[in-house]
Amino acid sequence: MIEIYVFFPDPLTVGKIAELAKKIDPQIICHKIIDVRQLFLTHKGSNCVLITSPDLYNQHIKGQDIQRFFQSYILPDDNETQRSKENIHFINQKLLITQLRSVLNQYIKEVYDLSPYIPIALDQFEEKIRYPCDLYLKLSAKKYIKVLKEQTSFHKETLEKLAKKGITSLYVKNENYQYLKEFLFTRASEIKISPKQVHLGAIESLHKLIVDIGFNEKIIQQAESLQHHIEKKITSKYMQNLFKTFKKTEGSFLYNHTYLTAIIALNACDYFDWMTPAIKEKIYLATILHDLGYQNTDNALRELLSKKEIQTLPFEQKNDIFEHTNNFSRHLAQVDKIDQDIIKIVRDHHGVYGEDAYPREIQSNDINLVFALFVLSHEFTLILFKTNFNLNQIESSLESLEKKFNNGKYKNILKEFKESILRIKKINKAIA
Ligand SMILES: [Fe+2]
Ligand SMILES: [Fe+2]
Repeated sequence: MIEIYVFFPDPLTVGKIAELAKKIDPQIICHKIIDVRQLFLTHKGSNCVLITSPDLYNQHIKGQDIQRFFQSYILPDDNETQRSKENIHFINQKLLITQLRSVLNQYIKEVYDLSPYIPIALDQFEEKIRYPCDLYLKLSAKKYIKVLKEQTSFHKETLEKLAKKGITSLYVKNENYQYLKEFLFTRASEIKISPKQVHLGAIESLHKLIVDIGFNEKIIQQAESLQHHIEKKITSKYMQNLFKTFKKTEGSFLYNHTYLTAIIALNACDYFDWMTPAIKEKIYLATILHDLGYQNTDNALRELLSKKEIQTLPFEQKNDIFEHTNNFSRHLAQVDKIDQDIIKIVRDHHGVYGEDAYPREIQSNDINLVFALFVLSHEFTLILFKTNFNLNQIESSLESLEKKFNNGKYKNILKEFKESILRIKKINKAIA
């Protein structure tokens, strides 16, 4: 099994590379990473490749414990003077797709065809299990010694000793690799991990990220109780299904993006004298619904493309992106007693980007304070993802936000919104 981890602050690059990897070999398991914490949480098998930028590599991977989990690195870079060495491949950014294809093909070939021995992560092995083939320890590029004879099992102490020595993988002969892989896979699928457990991991890491950024834990509790409250209050089948759909997206970019937008909006709410519990509830509900119109949640990664770029996508993707607002808002409008501000946020949240607006461009005098607060929170979430949650860039991020949204109702709330964000930075500094 080959696992690829694609880690870039820009979700678009992550999506583009993940798509390419799937086309190269359907056996490849691709993990899309947009926050370094996800890297630490996902379980690493053997043959892991990390595709990331040289900056992120130097900042988060090099010299860190996590480095040992990856057999190979691919770093797209403009600086062509960099030479690939050992397991680090620099590729030309401008030829990203072509070069990535050839480097990955080469890697797969090496793993499956050429190597006499193939690594399997040590943590895949347990005591008291009889393994179907011999297992080896790698001493050097050409030297391997047997550590387990076929049909025998490990003692607990042996596995502990190997781990203590910093051994991360054992090796199996190439001809036995597929067989052992099947054996491990069958055993692993017998151990039941409920989807709920997987979700919990993703949600916990998101909550941790939110607190690490500097948000008060009370905001997370507020979001939880609002979610609970609206699920009890709005009982229509259509809406109940939407709440379930929202939960199902846990762990995806769409969920993280939506949830963080809600947290940023709730965090700002207390700064406005026009705020009431009912308005707060409305903003929260609009936020969790705003991107649920996607048929394919992965397309949410592409909603930041310019209109021109979206036009060039295959029909199905293009259609899904352009219609996630309009179509969905029409369905929502059928819901009994639904607030018009919610419909507007769902329909027009891409209407604020001038020539990139869809389904229609809306002017700043055509919006109210609730809509303005959603737009600023949504935009700031996108900035946080783009800057990989780098708080040192908060001031410049706020400046660019101000340049974009400085008139009409935006102007009325910008000062307080900025204050609410700067307070997070202060808290974060105090923690650090
Ligand atoms: Fe959207
Ligand atoms: Fe969105």
